[in-house]
Amino acid sequence: MILVLNFGGQYSHLIARRVREFGVYSEILPCDVSLKEIGKLKPDGIILSGGPAGVYEHNAPTMDRKILDLGIPIFGICYGLQLMAKFVGGEVLAGKLKEFGKKILYVKKNGKLLKGLSRKEQVWMSHGDLVTKLPKDFEILASTDSCPIAAFENNSKKLYGIQFHAEVVHTPKGSQILKNFIFDICKAKKYWHMKNLSKKLIKEIKKEVGKNSVIMGVSGGVDSTVAATLMHKAIGNRLYCVFVDHGLIRKNEAEEVKNFFEKKLKFKHFYFVDASILFLEKLKGVTDPEEKRKIIGHTFIEVFESKVIELEKKHPTIKFLGQGTIYPDRIESAQPTKYASKIKSHHNITLPDKMKLKVIEPLKEFYKDEVRKLGKELKIPAEILNRHPFPGPGLAIRILGEVTEERLKILREADYIFIEELKKSGYYDMTWQAFAALLPVKAVGVMGDARTYEYIISLRAVTSIDAMTADWAKLPNELLEKISTRIINEVRGVNRLVYDISQKPPATIEYE
Ligand code: XMP
Repeated sequence: MILVLNFGGQYSHLIARRVREFGVYSEILPCDVSLKEIGKLKPDGIILSGGPAGVYEHNAPTMDRKILDLGIPIFGICYGLQLMAKFVGGEVLAGKLKEFGKKILYVKKNGKLLKGLSRKEQVWMSHGDLVTKLPKDFEILASTDSCPIAAFENNSKKLYGIQFHAEVVHTPKGSQILKNFIFDICKAKKYWHMKNLSKKLIKEIKKEVGKNSVIMGVSGGVDSTVAATLMHKAIGNRLYCVFVDHGLIRKNEAEEVKNFFEKKLKFKHFYFVDASILFLEKLKGVTDPEEKRKIIGHTFIEVFESKVIELEKKHPTIKFLGQGTIYPDRIESAQPTKYASKIKSHHNITLPDKMKLKVIEPLKEFYKDEVRKLGKELKIPAEILNRHPFPGPGLAIRILGEVTEERLKILREADYIFIEELKKSGYYDMTWQAFAALLPVKAVGVMGDARTYEYIISLRAVTSIDAMTADWAKLPNELLEKISTRIINEVRGVNRLVYDISQKPPATIEYE
């Protein structure tokens, strides 16, 4: 197994996932784990993740220095490299240079770590500090124009490091580097497979829930559907599913979800709660994104809670709250580590403490593509599994500024046309996520002989592996033109359409 020590980096879990993809088991632990704990786990190798701090900062995350002397191969990435350098006599310069995005890496020597790389490679950089003095007995393997020590190694001590991120897709040879470390340097063996995972998860749910029942909010999305199906397989009709319609869902969605759970999956206890009026009232006049998320999160819990109380009275065995939380939901809300910085609060995990139910989250360690594989094993139809992700706060975070009935109506129609055209052209399955967003500004246009003054719709389509990074989808001009013509002609209240060409990072996929 390969152990990843987490220093709070956005990509820490991506590292573990890549390792698992290669068929090697990987676990993530906080960076301050004890030597004893590491001894028990007997890892074949340790990867030190990136992190948002600087190694000389007060309270910067650190690890037991003696880990470096265990004789276990250690690979530092970004902050991990800097910390290693600091420990073994190198020097790190803080904050002088901010390097961000795609860079060219000049490979001077392949060594063991960069085996198979050419002299020039594209890499993904995201750092403010850099190693300026090479520690004794280390060799520089590569550099970029502004970062002279971008990769180093010391084979006799089995210490390796890179300043760029090997775990993201923007470093095309990143997988090769990780494989070099895992298989050639650590000599790890392949034995981790997704195959029997569903059986294992069902067994775990059965054990945890015992004779009790589970209540679960479902959205019709991939995550909650896979989680609910797992639950259903584990506890059958002791599963109570509730769909709260917050009025921020897409066109026709309510009907589709009802049909799916009641008719296709044949869940015995499926409850549809229409709370759209309440949500709109609470969102009236609110423009701040975090405020909107909080209101939606809390109102959702309120509505859900009152349904739970009603059902609990009838079915006192309900003791658990099932959730379809997946790993990226947790990492972006800064749950898994005390060092990660908070980006957005995802509403599915901002549960108030007063809820007495015990939370059960069977998918909390998995990434979207792993959840899809699991869903396939559970025979969930492809149209559900291949659905684009849809955020908990729904269209509210795609209407910038205040959410109103009028804006919702406009956005629903525009989004529907966009998705319909993407499906017709085959581009839906080629993109990770696509949607329309409403910009709360109006622009002048002309229709017939009259001047119009209406909203601008922004189309966002991205490609991604796991939503941690994303690129804008290169849709054909003809398709964009068709979509634009249709939306402007068919949706009243829109006279201008723009296509979003920003990458994540620094943008995010959603708008708020
Ligand atoms: P961002 O906008 O952070 O989105 O790049 C990354 C992925 O997460 C989804 N997302 C959410 N999902 N509740 C959710 O269930 C949320 O509050 C939320 N915010 C973003 C987003 O759609 C994308 O797939």
